[in-house]
Amino acid sequence: MKVLSSIAQWQAYRETLLAGSIGFVPTMGALHSGHLALVEASRKNNDYTIVSIFVNPEQFDDKQDFEAYPTHYQADLEQLEKAGVDAVLMPDAAQVYADNYRFKVSESKFSQHLCGAHRPGHFDGVLTVVMRLLNLVRPDNAYFGEKDYQQLQLIRDMVAAFFMPINIVACVTVREADGLAMSSRNQRLNKKERDQAPSLYATLKTSRSAAEARDALVRLGFEVDYVEDIKNRRLAAVRLGNTRLIDNVPI
Ligand code: PAJ
Repeated sequence: MKVLSSIAQWQAYRETLLAGSIGFVPTMGALHSGHLALVEASRKNNDYTIVSIFVNPEQFDDKQDFEAYPTHYQADLEQLEKAGVDAVLMPDAAQVYADNYRFKVSESKFSQHLCGAHRPGHFDGVLTVVMRLLNLVRPDNAYFGEKDYQQLQLIRDMVAAFFMPINIVACVTVREADGLAMSSRNQRLNKKERDQAPSLYATLKTSRSAAEARDALVRLGFEVDYVEDIKNRRLAAVRLGNTRLIDNVPI
């Protein structure tokens, strides 16, 4: 497995790839089984699988959240090697944003709702980094999790809007045995919060309406950012102590 930490090195490596399809899995590291399911889906359908690990400063609206974001690069690389990944792109922010973020992708409608309403600038940061990474990697297929449902929809829309010749593949949310959606941020939950966290998923699934789910979550002690039904999906974001959790279920 190649580990490429400069963009020039990456570009040189990219030129060496022979004909064959390229699958790409962008991540921010601190990898868990949710990320590895995307890697597996890519491995199954492509000749090459490329993963990026880049904790993107521009998508963190909260500096403390950025600083507390877990990094386990060694463990990540071991897992990716075992999973049969061909190459890992790990650029640093100075190279990704050599323009000092003068240029960005900005979406003016859906990104302003749900998570976007609570995290100003977040989705511009996500879309901009994903656009940059897709341009660097030039994959045939790129893999994203339904766990971040709004992100997935926005990326699909961006790729269509800019006529990017890339197929976006959605992968179902991978959960702990008790239903909690796997997330790098789960590590920050203390024992009591971790015990409470699975009731987010249970509540979204069993409530008859978004309003009912919101009331139940408040009663359970969550601070609710939003619960909304959009088309055939119920989406929610809540806070438990200092940790923000998101989840969504089909309805
Ligand atoms: P990150 O949170 O590291 O997630 C990387 C990818 O893994 C995303 O597509 C996310 O939806 C998916 N993922 C995370 N948890 C999952 C789970 N439990 N089940 C299935 N898939 C899961 O999302 C990001 O990073 C960033 O915003 C990124 C797209 C890399 C841009 O910086």
